[in-house]
Amino acid sequence: MKISRTWSLLVALGFIVAVSGQIPVSELSDLQKKAMSLVTEHFYDKYNPRNHFIISSVLEASQENFSDGIFVRLHFKKKRSNCTRKNSRSRSCSFLKNGAEFSCFSCFWFENNSHNVESEFRDCAQNSQTEHREEQCRRVKEERVAPSGAFSFLISQ
Ligand SMILES: *[C@@H]1O[C@H](CO)[C@@H](O)[C@H](O)[C@H]1NC(C)=O
Ligand SMILES: *[C@@H]1O[C@H](CO)[C@@H](O)[C@H](O)[C@H]1NC(C)=O
Ligand SMILES: *[C@@H]1O[C@H](CO)[C@@H](O)[C@H](O)[C@H]1NC(C)=O
Repeated sequence: MKISRTWSLLVALGFIVAVSGQIPVSELSDLQKKAMSLVTEHFYDKYNPRNHFIISSVLEASQENFSDGIFVRLHFKKKRSNCTRKNSRSRSCSFLKNGAEFSCFSCFWFENNSHNVESEFRDCAQNSQTEHREEQCRRVKEERVAPSGAFSFLISQ
């Protein structure tokens, strides 16, 4: 039996733009904002809450440009507000004291030119059992990063 695997060095074109800590939403790139709205959509679909939730913090946002796509990671928290989803547009909303807070973690592979989503992982959860998240994101990235030939080796046995 012969098992061969080729590993390639992940060569990012351009800078890896990564920041962590508290990031103002206004500083997110267009693709990070797109990621945020996709994750928010997923959050409302999954939990169908009566209340409107608002972003309480952005903990991580990064973007890496590759030759055939753009990899975005986004981690933020959403907290229950005093508005219902129906009146969230017409009234000013603020966090509910002791309102539930969810941690939303995601990564996306966007097609370079169209910015269509080619691969993604989105997860919003209230608990902190989040070990699988890194693994899922690693997959989203590695599935898409084409072997560049810049550096590769073969493991045969
Ligand atoms: C990465 O790609 C995006 C979208 O094409 C572009 O707006 C951004 O400036 C690029 N960033 C870098 C560091 O090349
Ligand atoms: C990716 O998109 C950027 C901006 O749209 C463009 O400058 C670049 O040439 C594209 N790269 C490839 C490999 O198509
Ligand atoms: C939510 O709270 C804010 C600040 O206390 C208040 O101005 C706003 O009217 C409240 N919204 C609703 C829908 O009760």
